[in-house]
Amino acid sequence: MKRKVIGVLLSVAMVSAMVAGCGSDSSSTSAPAETEDTADEAEAPAEDAAEESTDAAAAGGKIGISMPTQSLERWNRDGAYLDEQFKAAGYETILTYSDNDSARQVNDIQNMLADGVDLLIVAAIDGEALNTAMDEAATAGVPVIAYDRLIMNDAVSYYVSFDNYTVGTLQGQFVVDTLDLDNAGDTVYNMEFTAGDPADNNAGYFYQGAIDVLQPYIDAGTLNVVSGQIDFDTVATAQWSTDTALERAQNVLSSYYADGTQLDVWVCSNDSTALGVAQAITSDYAGSNDVIITGQDGDEANLKNIVDGVQTMTVYKNVSNESIVTLGLAQAILNGDTVDESLIPSFGIECAFDTESYETSEGNACPSFLLVPNVITADNLQDLVDTGLYTMGEDGYLSAVQ
Ligand code: GAL
Repeated sequence: MKRKVIGVLLSVAMVSAMVAGCGSDSSSTSAPAETEDTADEAEAPAEDAAEESTDAAAAGGKIGISMPTQSLERWNRDGAYLDEQFKAAGYETILTYSDNDSARQVNDIQNMLADGVDLLIVAAIDGEALNTAMDEAATAGVPVIAYDRLIMNDAVSYYVSFDNYTVGTLQGQFVVDTLDLDNAGDTVYNMEFTAGDPADNNAGYFYQGAIDVLQPYIDAGTLNVVSGQIDFDTVATAQWSTDTALERAQNVLSSYYADGTQLDVWVCSNDSTALGVAQAITSDYAGSNDVIITGQDGDEANLKNIVDGVQTMTVYKNVSNESIVTLGLAQAILNGDTVDESLIPSFGIECAFDTESYETSEGNACPSFLLVPNVITADNLQDLVDTGLYTMGEDGYLSAVQ
């Protein structure tokens, strides 16, 4: 999945094509702006319009930050970090959350464009549903950074995320190592999968990374998916909903495990779904063995479950670092600097510049900065405390600092 990084030559071409976006076809039509403003501006600019434009000009820009939802913990942190860091760097910001409603996200972005933003940072609810807003951004010459989740539109200039495929391989490899599957002999371990939101471009990468590591053991009969539910569409969870994951896990447990069949592993693509699965196992699983449950994000409730032995691991993504990389990239874009891997040392954060892995349309690769995810278990929770983003209470539970 990780491919060769192509350096300076491509990047120079990319910078000249920056505003046009990732793709070769920069033509676009602009749709009429919606009249009804349903935007939930978590932080609206306080100044009046005249002051705004003076401040924005003095500071070098106004940034629109469009986040998907406040109902999943991480996005609250992403929004707060981005907002703080851009403000601290002298930018004016508009931050919105769109309540997992794509039409509302389009409307929120349209309002930002009408407000004269110089650059957009967008974490899409549905990567396929933002064309109207993206086309308007292209027409207005406003660069777009797809944040964490790719948007399937060539108006996107750059992509900042974690290596999403690696998130999945870390989950799969954790299962292989914890059960020592290479030395399992004739032992058969029973497992189930829960994947993410099909509208989220990342969800397929997480799932595929895990499957690619685990499939050889499934083929060898060392791992057995008892429900037979393994294809992505069957195990996917709309909007990463905890309740949906809980409900499906309860159904699987009552249909396939009520007879006393032992469940050994449940691979969950992220923490919100792991929360639902863990709840179902606690309330509906007849067995008494510890079930390995994977996750992703480091949400507080899941870290607590890790301390309590209810969840086994999470793949942690430091979203403060993700926002620092995004700020550095945005500054380079707005200053007209060359955007390529030479920017990475100035970020001070480990990441890769990848010009091949992610496409906004067929054949149109989106230059990407991909950060490195880490496995967190009960044994290395201190690593999170060491980031300065979590504190550990006397009870051993972690709390996010903000
Ligand atoms: C993904 C994101 C994950 C997780 C999930 C649910 O796009 O990369 O970190 O948060 O959405 O929100």
